Amino acid sequence: MADVILETRHLTKEFKGFTAVNDVNLQVQRGHIHALIGPNGAGKTTCFNLLTKFLVPSSGQILFNGRDITQAKPAQIARLGIIRSFQISAVFPHLTALQNVRIGLQRALGTSFHFWRSERTLDRLGDQALQLLEQVDLASFAGEITADLPYGRKRALEIATTLAMEPELMLLDEPTQGMGIEDVHRVTGLIKKVSEGRTILMVEHNMNVVAGICDRISVLQRGAILAEGSYAEVSNNPLVMEAYMGTASAELQGAH
Ligand SMILES: Nc1ncnc2c1ncn2[C@@H]1O[C@H](COP(=O)(O)OP(=O)(O)OP(=O)(O)O)[C@@H](O)[C@H]1O
Ligand SMILES: [Mg+2]
Repeated sequence: MADVILETRHLTKEFKGFTAVNDVNLQVQRGHIHALIGPNGAGKTTCFNLLTKFLVPSSGQILFNGRDITQAKPAQIARLGIIRSFQISAVFPHLTALQNVRIGLQRALGTSFHFWRSERTLDRLGDQALQLLEQVDLASFAGEITADLPYGRKRALEIATTLAMEPELMLLDEPTQGMGIEDVHRVTGLIKKVSEGRTILMVEHNMNVVAGICDRISVLQRGAILAEGSYAEVSNNPLVMEAYMGTASAELQGAH
């Protein structure tokens, strides 16, 4: 039996009669970087929002470590160790990189309601925050105001604030979206690095990223899983090729 950390059973989401996610049975193996891909409108973001409890499923189940979390609230699954990056852990633009990570650590400690008396706590968390910044190659940017950071560095900072929550399962929605090639390269390397000891499920359009770091790929089309496997397997699948035909995402063949 494979060690499955996240599983969906017959997961379905309808919007006023339109089925955006249709009977999806997904199994994410512990330790994997798992990608959810598919042409525009395939249901990736909806699926993601179901997994992170931003949306309530119409039917079906979601299990995390064998436990039914279908009815859980976003804060509850965060406590269980499922953290979504770039949303929950949005950074404060006018604070420094270090301050943002310290706040992430503070949040993980559950002391965020004591914000008004937390100055000393924050100081103590400083060392830990710096270590996290080092992990994402941001140590030299520690004192920079977040708003002034280059785009790719901001994303790296968001990963650091997510790591502060000690996620067992990290969910990334298009982590390289809108990035130039250099940033894509850096952030991809970063994701690979921080995947050690945890599981990552990501929606990603960039097939070079998917080909480069993902262990397993699920291809969605019109809300349903069309194919699954390694990059080599899905990219050679005629059904997948057809699904990507004539879309802006003809990058399937372009990846190496
Ligand atoms: N709140 C909503 N109400 C009605 N329809 C919706 C809603 N959210 C998404 N949809 C529809 O569900 C389908 C799937 O959308 P979704 O955003 O999940 O696709 P996606 O795979 O993330 O696409 P993209 O690659 O463009 O980000 C689309 O046809 C979309 O129009
Ligand atoms: Mg989307």
